[in-house]
Amino acid sequence: MEVVICKTYEDVSRAAAQVVAETLNEKPDAVLGLATGSTPLGLYKELIRMHTEEGLDFSHVTTFNLDEYVGLPHDHPQSYYYFMWENLFKHINVPVENIHVPSGTANNYKAFCQWYEDQIDEYGGIDLQVLGIGSDGHIAFNEPSSSLMSRTRLKTLTEQTINDNARFFDKKEDVPVYSITMGVGTILDAERLILLANGEGKADAVVAAIEGPVSSMITASALQLHPDSIFFLDEPAAGKLQMRDYYDWIQKKKPGAPGT
Ligand code: PGA
Repeated sequence: MEVVICKTYEDVSRAAAQVVAETLNEKPDAVLGLATGSTPLGLYKELIRMHTEEGLDFSHVTTFNLDEYVGLPHDHPQSYYYFMWENLFKHINVPVENIHVPSGTANNYKAFCQWYEDQIDEYGGIDLQVLGIGSDGHIAFNEPSSSLMSRTRLKTLTEQTINDNARFFDKKEDVPVYSITMGVGTILDAERLILLANGEGKADAVVAAIEGPVSSMITASALQLHPDSIFFLDEPAAGKLQMRDYYDWIQKKKPGAPGT
């Protein structure tokens, strides 16, 4: 696990975009796992800039999103499909048929979830998965007590998540109670994971995920089990880390870093 502490949110976004760009340079037909929420907005803005100004090409890329609210169709302004379309997909050249976001309106959710897992397999698995972290330590909608081996499934949101996400809706009662989410096990199968976090509100979840025990109570702590995961944090999100000096030391001593 690598911990990269950046000065600002913009630096977090740029550093994460660099990893996405490197992945696409190495493998133009990479499979990207994508996340919604406030956190990755800066990353998506930077990817759009790289596409527009530097020709970063998404024409062979396939995407799989982490989760979706149950009950919201693609064209609902609070659906995650709509979010992805407005904030990334419509601005880049990823073919629409290569985009996968879990359906919030499937007739048979169990069958849909199995199909989603099978689709990921069919495309050869996810090369790079982008993650945020909830204030309750969740990744995707894997709320506390989710099995660390869980697969894509229907999941009931915690009240904390509903409260956190109410800011996107007219009123709290409008936030769906159920979601379809990739499982922790699904996420851990990706080749590489990058988790972005910014702001003081994430500091407790971040320290629990990085320095606490691996626990289903903080599903982001499962990243400790992954051989290639990077946390990109801004200063406030990193504010409670005990081993801060060591993470900075590692970055300074990295081969190629100035002074090494
Ligand atoms: P946020 O959500 O980026 O809107 O803070 C993160 C999450 O819940 O995973």
